[in-house]
Amino acid sequence: TLVLGIEGTAWNLSAAVVDEDDVIVEVTHTYRPASGGIHPREAAQHHAAHIGEVIADVFFRLEETGISRDEIDAVAFSRGPGLGPCLRIVATAARMISQILKKPLVGVNHCVAHIEVGVWKTDAIDPVVLYVSGANSQVLAYQEGTYRVFGETLDIGLGNSLDKFARSAGLPHPGGPLIEKYAKEATENIELPYTVKGMDFFFSGLSTAATRLLQENKIKVKQNQSQNNEEAGDVFLANICHAYQETAFAMSVEVTERALAHTGKSEVLLAGGVGANSRLREMLSQMCQERGAKFYVPEKRFMGDNGAMIAYTGLLMYKAGDILTLEESAVDAGFRADQVSVTWKEKMPV
Ligand code: ATP
Ligand code: FE2
Repeated sequence: TLVLGIEGTAWNLSAAVVDEDDVIVEVTHTYRPASGGIHPREAAQHHAAHIGEVIADVFFRLEETGISRDEIDAVAFSRGPGLGPCLRIVATAARMISQILKKPLVGVNHCVAHIEVGVWKTDAIDPVVLYVSGANSQVLAYQEGTYRVFGETLDIGLGNSLDKFARSAGLPHPGGPLIEKYAKEATENIELPYTVKGMDFFFSGLSTAATRLLQENKIKVKQNQSQNNEEAGDVFLANICHAYQETAFAMSVEVTERALAHTGKSEVLLAGGVGANSRLREMLSQMCQERGAKFYVPEKRFMGDNGAMIAYTGLLMYKAGDILTLEESAVDAGFRADQVSVTWKEKMPV
């Protein structure tokens, strides 16, 4: 079975063709904001400007491997969650390709795709999933036909909170990788607010507190003329980045650990763009070791948004008969993982 999948919920426009075993081709075109964070309209304009060439390139490379585009069995696209204007561009393209190729349309939930690609590309079978990315932060696990959400952010996603703090520190977007880099230079521990309520977490207050501390310190450094200002400022930024990571990741690990205990599962899978962070991996892996659980992380190319995850989840859905008519194919910017019936996993333990 061959499925074409298109991802474009936010910053990354990416299309891939996969079969059951592997990615056959993947072509990506990334929107990079000139300043500030992601502007939904600009991102959509980027996707609209490049979707034609991305798809043409996928077909060209596919045919170079000796497979005709007519052999594609279904066309999958990211239906949500994501930025409305971006979702609509990708959905329009997917509908058009499905009409031209005369192949069924499959609407994929972006969060479920982050999970399925991880299960595909690791040895995980039935994990508790920590899904931490830009807009989303959730702890999920398969239960009775859906990916149930055990805990989630009740304000903003961990990645967006990191990006917001980084912007206030004058760092370019995306901030996550830079914060990771600075954190390595830390010299001492700073206390930041740790907010877990029940099984849910909050990241907005953490970002605000870190920004406030940074500004207070800037003023202090300016007043103290005897110090080497720039150096003192850099060390302070490193200490805050370190504290930020320790606090946010400890919150994420705590909820993941409690979901493990609650479900009785014995595997943890890390998913989403923030999962690239090596300190987060270290903390999760340690928790798993202490509990005797197995810890899985897919290759980095499958962690951030990618076309392969949509194509692969589309393949699972297509094989389970889960296809859309044109009338049913509207996008859904607020589409939740737990709204999806996981029809393709019937044989899984409950
Ligand atoms: P989603 O739609 O799934 O919520 P997304 O579309 O924003 O997510 P992802 O690629 O899944 O995209 O995640 C992007 C986020 O990952 C950004 O907020 C970025 O700062 C963060 N990130 C990337 N690398 C790192 C890292 N090394 N450490 C921490 N955060 C990181
Ligand atoms: Fe994502």
